[in-house]
Amino acid sequence: MSYNLLKGKKGIIFGALDQNSIAWKTAERVHEEGGQFVLTNAPIAMRMGNIKTLAEQTGSEIIPADATKTEDLENLIEKAQEILGGQLDFVLHSIGMSINVRKGKHYTEQNHEWTHKGLDVSAMSFHRVMQVLYQKDAMNEWGSIVALTYMAAQRVFPDYNDMADNKAFLESIARSFGYHFGKKKNVRVNTISQSPTPTTAGKGVKGFDGFIAYADKMSPLGNATAQDCADYTITLFSDLTKRVTLQNLYNDGGFSNMGVSEEIINKFTEE
Ligand code: NAI
Repeated sequence: MSYNLLKGKKGIIFGALDQNSIAWKTAERVHEEGGQFVLTNAPIAMRMGNIKTLAEQTGSEIIPADATKTEDLENLIEKAQEILGGQLDFVLHSIGMSINVRKGKHYTEQNHEWTHKGLDVSAMSFHRVMQVLYQKDAMNEWGSIVALTYMAAQRVFPDYNDMADNKAFLESIARSFGYHFGKKKNVRVNTISQSPTPTTAGKGVKGFDGFIAYADKMSPLGNATAQDCADYTITLFSDLTKRVTLQNLYNDGGFSNMGVSEEIINKFTEE
């Protein structure tokens, strides 16, 4: 259902790789709500995914950008404003990658070159994006910036590996930059902490099937889907959440406040 919540709003959506991506579902919802946007992803993802289908479906243009390269981001942010005809109202950072996770390196045996790369892609890229937006004065007053995170930033999930540290850094950047963006332009900056979700990035985590099933059984409302995350993000881009900022917001069916659930207890007491 559409509420026209984003009518007249313009923005950039990072990270739509395929139909499962959280950014893909968000782009579809933003489009339904009347928002216009430029889609972007790393140049290599242009070959791997099918972002062109999404662009056609939503009437959007694609500008490739590696989120670890400032010059790519400068080009993206300048061109996006030209295409959309003015400053931006929303930006979604939906980017994550750990080579240690991908290659199955244990947390205690990390290749620190890989750790460094993962940190750059998954966390520092958020600072980089906001710094370019800030310096180019590319955001409109009362704009909204959202990044996606996971609860391993607060609690231990051993197989999430170095992504846990990347997410802790990402969430801190949201608060620190959110202060400056708030003071300068009343722009809000938040992170959404999402349930495990079956996407390319999600399924890369070791033991993902157990992980997602456990979270589902622990959460009174069950796991939040990518579609639920898209819906939540729409509210944060809309004018209905103007003074929500510097927050890490859980979209997780209640998981983050649970100790144990009946279903989990039952598993341990089965004869
Ligand atoms: P996805 O694999 O569909 O999206 C990750 C995106 O990051 C891809 O589009 C990829 O091309 C992009 N990316 C990687 N390196 C890049 C670079 N150098 N420059 C620009 N883009 C780059 O997976 P998903 O799950 O939709 O991930 C989106 C966000 O949601 C990530 O931040 C992820 O950590 C977060 N998240 C995912 C959860 C899950 O279980 N899937 C749970 C909580 C948070």
